[in-house]
Amino acid sequence: MYLVSLVYASTKSPDWCDNDIYEILTHAEAYNSQSDITGVLCFNGEIFLQCLEGSRSVINALYRKIQNDKRHDNVMLLDYKEISERSFNEWNMLYIPVSNVDDVTTFRQPDNTAFDPFRMRGASALGLCRELASVVPSHV
Ligand SMILES: Cc1cc2nc3c(=O)[nH]c(=O)nc-3n(C[C@H](O)[C@H](O)[C@H](O)COP(=O)(O)O)c2cc1C
Repeated sequence: MYLVSLVYASTKSPDWCDNDIYEILTHAEAYNSQSDITGVLCFNGEIFLQCLEGSRSVINALYRKIQNDKRHDNVMLLDYKEISERSFNEWNMLYIPVSNVDDVTTFRQPDNTAFDPFRMRGASALGLCRELASVVPSHV
């Protein structure tokens, strides 16, 4: 089995409703735990940044489903690589909500640049996921 890490960004779709996040997380927690997937999902109210870790075949199959999910658009792959150990071992899908994303990104960027993973290098986007997870483990 090859262990991989995949990071992507996307934007919520025009017909997004706030309840969608609960449905995504409920499904993700069940499916990810049964499939030995770990990771983090950051959402600032407009943009998603997600890191998924697990076996290559499982992560590729889940990413295909995620790409086709109508609840978001503009899905952009930022980083994909084989890893020897997981960064988000403790969480099947840690959720980082709006307020925490804003707090951390504002704090780390003195010029007040908004959270914009589409403009980040893949390695930096993964680093931001790690930083968000380390500062504010939280629930919805
Ligand atoms: C931003 C976003 C993140 C998602 N993350 C996950 C996830 O980590 N795990 C998961 O099983 N589904 C996740 N989903 C849901 C999948 O896109 C899909 O709806 C789910 O796998 C059910 O697919 P199925 O009904 O074909 O089995 C996510 C969806 C979105 C929009």
